[in-house]
Amino acid sequence: MKYIAPSVLAADFGNLQQAVEMLNRSKADWIHVDVMDGVFVPNISFGMPVVKAIQRHAQKPLDVHLMITDPDRYLEDFQSLGADRITVHYEACPHLHRSVQRIRELGCKAGVAINPHTSVQLLENILYEIDLVLIMSVNPGFGGQKFIDHTYQKLQDLQQLIQRTNTSVLIEVDGGVSSQNAAKLSQAGVNAFVAGSFVFKSIDPAHTIANLKQAVAV
Ligand code: DX5
Ligand code: ZN
Repeated sequence: MKYIAPSVLAADFGNLQQAVEMLNRSKADWIHVDVMDGVFVPNISFGMPVVKAIQRHAQKPLDVHLMITDPDRYLEDFQSLGADRITVHYEACPHLHRSVQRIRELGCKAGVAINPHTSVQLLENILYEIDLVLIMSVNPGFGGQKFIDHTYQKLQDLQQLIQRTNTSVLIEVDGGVSSQNAAKLSQAGVNAFVAGSFVFKSIDPAHTIANLKQAVAV
């Protein structure tokens, strides 16, 4: 199964309700919610009140990507704000095993994200505890950046690791995804595609989502 997860980070925050309603009507599978704290990443996006506003209008699962230090402090908050999936960063969690266990205890799907410089091999002892691996294909913090080509190598390495450990996780790619690389990423084994600027800066975002959905259906 392939999932399209448009990131509302690239939406017009003055018309967030409209953006979420467009996603409800579109072929999007999940709504990707990027929370940044200005510490783990050099940018601040939005926090709980905005996630709550998104949740109020959303009719699709919220895919919450926490780019924050020590996310354990807020897991319960995000669960109660309606997160279906919570993804934390490998680099931000000294006790990652505890963090992902907590996410699952709260009834959410657990994801682990890795930055471009982080090796997928470091996930070997956590894969069996999680539902999703998010491979950052740009450095986290901003939308609209250029896709890093080394991501394809990491996808290959991750697939080998999944096979070797006999685990089953979804693979999500986040950053610089567009119609240029979506089909190739899908062939490389990606299950979930985050797209911010490519969707929201297009003339007809719903149409762009439908095109992406078609492109990844291999
Ligand atoms: C980047 C975020 C992404 C971002 C992607 O730190 O995690 O989800 O919204 O934006 P685009 O698709 O514009 O690269
Ligand atoms: Zn993201």
